[in-house]
Amino acid sequence: MNETRDPAYARRRRPVRHAVAAATLAGALPLAACAGDSPSALNPAGAGAIRIAGLWWVLFWISMAVFAEVMALLVWALVFRRRHDTRVRHGQPLRFVAVAGAGVPLVILVVVYALGLRDLAALGAAPGRDAPTVEVTGHKWWWEVRVPGVDGATANELHIPVGERVRVRLRTADVLHSFWVPQLMPKTDLIAGEVRETWLHAERPGRYRGQCAEYCGTQHAHMAFQVVAEPRPQFEAWLARLGSPARQPQTDAERRGQQAFVQGTCAGCHAIRGTGADARVGPDLSDVGSRWSIGAGAVPNDAGHLGGWIANPQTVKPGSYMPPQPVDAERLPDLIAYLRSLT
Ligand code: CUA
Repeated sequence: MNETRDPAYARRRRPVRHAVAAATLAGALPLAACAGDSPSALNPAGAGAIRIAGLWWVLFWISMAVFAEVMALLVWALVFRRRHDTRVRHGQPLRFVAVAGAGVPLVILVVVYALGLRDLAALGAAPGRDAPTVEVTGHKWWWEVRVPGVDGATANELHIPVGERVRVRLRTADVLHSFWVPQLMPKTDLIAGEVRETWLHAERPGRYRGQCAEYCGTQHAHMAFQVVAEPRPQFEAWLARLGSPARQPQTDAERRGQQAFVQGTCAGCHAIRGTGADARVGPDLSDVGSRWSIGAGAVPNDAGHLGGWIANPQTVKPGSYMPPQPVDAERLPDLIAYLRSLT
């Protein structure tokens, strides 16, 4: 009889097949996390994250070795010892327990502790006094970005010169948040009433995703940001843009949009440099057209999503502190055109 057609045989084999599938999936997941430009701590792109990834791999291979040792002992106990005399000579088990149960773990713990101390000291070392500084304030649920000595602000996006260490000064405007750029640096918590410091370093240009890593309420998941690492001249151009007035409207629609913004409810919470709108409740919108997303990673930044966001942010990011806007249906396209032009 063909055993693969036997239903009883198939039933017996099913758990084995499930186990193989689960093991394959478990094996593939870490590999997928390392692939391409995935925003994973195992795909490091800067000095801080490289240390963390190194420590991760050391711990991973130690765990693998311990796992293999335990499995080998288990097989030995189940197969080998059963076939032979199970009586052990006096003193043998005690020696074995002392070496495998205390000696080996002690060596592992001391080595891991020393490596941890080394990396902790390296990560805690402040960048030089002349290092560029960026100030980031966590809000429910977005990131305010400023540079000391520069007038303007932006949101959910900060720029750093590639290859340099940049000091990041962290504050929170409300509850605990945590600043985490997996590919560049481990987490730093933002604590009410304190100014925390960390640094960022990217060894190649690119956009690195950051994420709030401390649960802070309904929209914690939509509290993402980007770190843009770029050559020095581009970084300096960003600083200059941050300090200058927003782009002037060029078309009639943009002009009407600006008027609607300044005279309407928008200006009650937001700033656009050079327009008279200078409220600081919500994000500064002087460069909103160039940002990577709307709502700190909630939706892509395009005209359609922007219109939906203005009309009713609660459908896009429920719980967000921006209320629905009573914008005239005729004015909405103008407002969208104006905000899209702010690059
Ligand atoms: Cu902010 Cu979670």
